[in-house]
Amino acid sequence: MTLDVPALLAALTIEEKAALLDGADFWHTQPVERLGIPGVMVTDGPHGLRKQTGESDHVGLNDSVPATCFPPAAGLASTWNPELLGRIGEALGRECRAEQVAVLLGPGVNMKRSPLCGRNFEYFSEDPLLAGDLAAALVNGLQSTGVGASLKHFAANNQETDRMTVSADVDERTLREIYLPAFERVVTQAQPWTVMCSYNKINGTYASEDPWLLTQVLRDEWGFEGLVVSDWGAVNRRDAGVAAGLDLEMPSSGGAGTRVILDAVRAGTLSEADVDRAVTRVLTLIEKSRPALREGQTFDAEAHHALAREAAAASAVLLKNTDGILPLDPRGGGTIAVIGEFARSPRFQGAGSSQVNPTRVETALDALRAALDGHREVAFAPGFVIDSDAADDDLVAEAVRTAAGADVAVLFLGLPPSYESEGYDRDHMDLPAHQIDLLHAVADANPRVVVVLSNGSVVTVAPWQDRAQAVLEGWLLGQAGGSATADLLLGAADPAGRLAETVPLRFEDNPAVGAFPGELGHVRYGEGLLIGYRWYDAHRLEVAYPFGHGLSYTSFAYSDLSVTVLADGAEPSVEVGLTVTNTGERAGRETVQLYVTDPQATVYRPEQELRAFTQVSLAPGESAQVTLTLPTRAFAFWHTAMKRWVVEGGAFGIRVGSSSRDIRLTGAVELTGQDTGAPLTAEATVDAWLGHAVAGPWLHEQLGDGLFTALLSDPVNGQMMRAIPLVRLSRFPGFPVTEPDVEAAVQRFTAQ
Ligand code: BGC
Repeated sequence: MTLDVPALLAALTIEEKAALLDGADFWHTQPVERLGIPGVMVTDGPHGLRKQTGESDHVGLNDSVPATCFPPAAGLASTWNPELLGRIGEALGRECRAEQVAVLLGPGVNMKRSPLCGRNFEYFSEDPLLAGDLAAALVNGLQSTGVGASLKHFAANNQETDRMTVSADVDERTLREIYLPAFERVVTQAQPWTVMCSYNKINGTYASEDPWLLTQVLRDEWGFEGLVVSDWGAVNRRDAGVAAGLDLEMPSSGGAGTRVILDAVRAGTLSEADVDRAVTRVLTLIEKSRPALREGQTFDAEAHHALAREAAAASAVLLKNTDGILPLDPRGGGTIAVIGEFARSPRFQGAGSSQVNPTRVETALDALRAALDGHREVAFAPGFVIDSDAADDDLVAEAVRTAAGADVAVLFLGLPPSYESEGYDRDHMDLPAHQIDLLHAVADANPRVVVVLSNGSVVTVAPWQDRAQAVLEGWLLGQAGGSATADLLLGAADPAGRLAETVPLRFEDNPAVGAFPGELGHVRYGEGLLIGYRWYDAHRLEVAYPFGHGLSYTSFAYSDLSVTVLADGAEPSVEVGLTVTNTGERAGRETVQLYVTDPQATVYRPEQELRAFTQVSLAPGESAQVTLTLPTRAFAFWHTAMKRWVVEGGAFGIRVGSSSRDIRLTGAVELTGQDTGAPLTAEATVDAWLGHAVAGPWLHEQLGDGLFTALLSDPVNGQMMRAIPLVRLSRFPGFPVTEPDVEAAVQRFTAQ
């Protein structure tokens, strides 16, 4: 039986309609039994299913059904692999179907504005294109199974401090170019069934009641067709929310929201048409999800675990590998000392609403032992207690003894779970000091040290990394992270992960210092467009590891760059071609990154911006031709006066490389773009008037060869004079053009 949405809308009473816009409990929409409308389940998300069957809460305290725990977004983003994310989306969908879940609450595509955001592990990147493309692939995969996504947290939810009340004060160009595009890409490429509005305010207006955000941008400009749901408890004024485009309040407000809606409709301050629109969206969502909600569906837990392992191996980023210490030879001689509690008690996901109850968990220690199968001895020493802030002298001594006699020491360091979570931000970006002390002690005993990191957001490595020959950034790798780590350490898998966020040298170098997490209810995005690598590039700052960086066990050469204009004019597109060759001895997968520069712009533009990427898997010695297409947006900026995207004519730089700071090929392209010249006004500068094709000659003629012509071309004072608005100069004594002349000229020349 299908739901006839228009007929149901006609049959529902206003009380039933208002009730439908509120949740039934923590995780279900309201049923209307009288009309056969079922309630459906929406639940977390995003990197695995968190379906609570008993007591409910939204912070992951109560148990949920076992589900595959894939790497959280911080890991998945480092794969730079949309195809893989699509397959993970499909697997998530199958698990949702098995549990009759209509909508999975994710993915979250907020930007990593500060490394301190407690929820960075759940977000993809400091770059909106990378975050958007990966999330779109995940949503497409998920929704191909008939299960909906909830794209969150819309928008500018870039911190946890005061997340439910803070106003993110962001200028429009920065919103358009940095904080909204990841959402835009997912909406336009994947049409998620739902979008979840964020808790915070944007420039003083709660996201949950912002018509500009929820209707003008999301629907009118981007073409969103689904339903907007509140983040859990994000509603401020329910009636204003309905009018603005917030359709469903979650979790249940216990009837409070329903009463506010009814009162407002009765008082005439909220139109029934607005209510009907929201109800239509709720009914449409229920109807859309019904085909997938059949009983008796199952999923293959083993196959999903294998996928989680593949994803984990693709998520880790090999930051350094001096003298090729990695991979370790599985058949080599000598003991491998595995040190660090994380090897035995892995940290594989973050805390809060996304916490999944995994179907199983592998440890790196067990996985290494299993893979080595007695061919090499593995000696283990925990070295520290994860949740302790102090060193344990006995554990340190044991670790040093273990390392001293070994061929190599693999040291598992990372952040304790309490360091990063939903709900609060980090205080600093360092590893616990006692873990670094342990590294020094181990490296003193055995300089052949490999560090494996477990952290959901970036940590400082500069203070200690010279004590390690190799550093493998493991992020949080999900339930199969242990075996994936063993695969990478032993060379069964090639490290293909690339950084989706910059690793700065020092916390103090990061762009949001001084403007995070704000004060007195406001956080001012003072760095504007300069998030992540855009900032480090603009300030010529050395970084520990740049955006896009990641080593492989093989090497790649780039050659034969070609740049072809496919279309010119106001909506250009450009094709970039090149050849990538595997010049090493092992098979590997390279991520080709394309950055565009706009050196001739009339507005400030970041030095370079990621505009396309792709991956290519190559056997040793193999070459492949790679083609990347740059659409109009790759060249455009948000013109605040014209209130739209604009491509300005001129030369653009094309940079292709293996990271944002390892550019291998450069080229250029000349595009016609469109006229962005401001219309001539009385307030335009004399310079602008003189440069105008028609008004310029007229003004020259008026000035003749009098005093002002001399002044305006004076080598010292001319520039200052020409910067004066013409109308102001017209009021100066002796200026040969009067104010009425200027007004008349504006009429004449702008009419042409
Ligand atoms: C989180 C959302 C989550 C929701 C439901 C909120 O606190 O911000 O990401 O989906 O709870 O658990």
